[in-house]
Amino acid sequence: MINEEIKKRLVLALDVEELDEAKKLVDELSPYIGTFKVGLQLFCGYGLEIVNYIKEKNADFFLDVKLHDIPNTVEKASYNVIKNGANFFNVHATGGIEMMKAAKKGAMQAAEKYNRKKPLVLAVTVLTSINQETLTNELSNSKNVEDFVIQLAKNAKLAGLDGVVASARELKAIKKELGNDFIVLTPGIRPSWSAKDDQARIATPKSAIEDGADYIVLGRAITKAENKIEAIKKIYEEIQGVNK
Ligand code: C5P
Repeated sequence: MINEEIKKRLVLALDVEELDEAKKLVDELSPYIGTFKVGLQLFCGYGLEIVNYIKEKNADFFLDVKLHDIPNTVEKASYNVIKNGANFFNVHATGGIEMMKAAKKGAMQAAEKYNRKKPLVLAVTVLTSINQETLTNELSNSKNVEDFVIQLAKNAKLAGLDGVVASARELKAIKKELGNDFIVLTPGIRPSWSAKDDQARIATPKSAIEDGADYIVLGRAITKAENKIEAIKKIYEEIQGVNK
């Protein structure tokens, strides 16, 4: 029996080269995964073909496009993202409050027009690839990274966005500052039995959920596992019983 409460929290990153590989993952894993995340790699390669495939399986679809442009352009792009079937997507909080408001406006308009469920618009605060040195020296920002993340998350909430993408390290602080209803989607998830790969700020599925993550992004821990279904089942077992 699939636990629907757990299923809904699991987001699988379809970070693969070929459309066929992505389709195979969707075929195999859609009984266990609530949302499939399509990033720029797959989207720029194959566009809406994969979207339609995901929709046919009745799974949710997260378009990880990290929009960042002038408000008018972002509003129109957001409209099209929802029109074309995404349930949620993201924008860069560094695009500013007006831009984030425009994203939400475009998304809501499309949802209403096409009778879609309420879209979730998330903000990316500071990319995990940006460290303190880059922020200070390259981007001339004197704030420390953690404070900047919180400030951008506050801006996202002010703009009416639904939540943020944040690493496990920032999870507790964001929930504390922004409240429990403000959604946090957490990548960098590594069960204790899987390889760390190139991720620096990692957490196990259990600790991320315990610390308040609403969604956890599973990538290579599943897609590179010898037995993907067994790997997911282990994650289900691990999360089961966490009170949230
Ligand atoms: O394979 P892995 O679990 O590392 O995949 C993590 C996914 O989450 C990738 O799609 C990656 O782009 C995304 N992500 C991330 N760190 C962020 C934002 C997104 O790893 N800060």
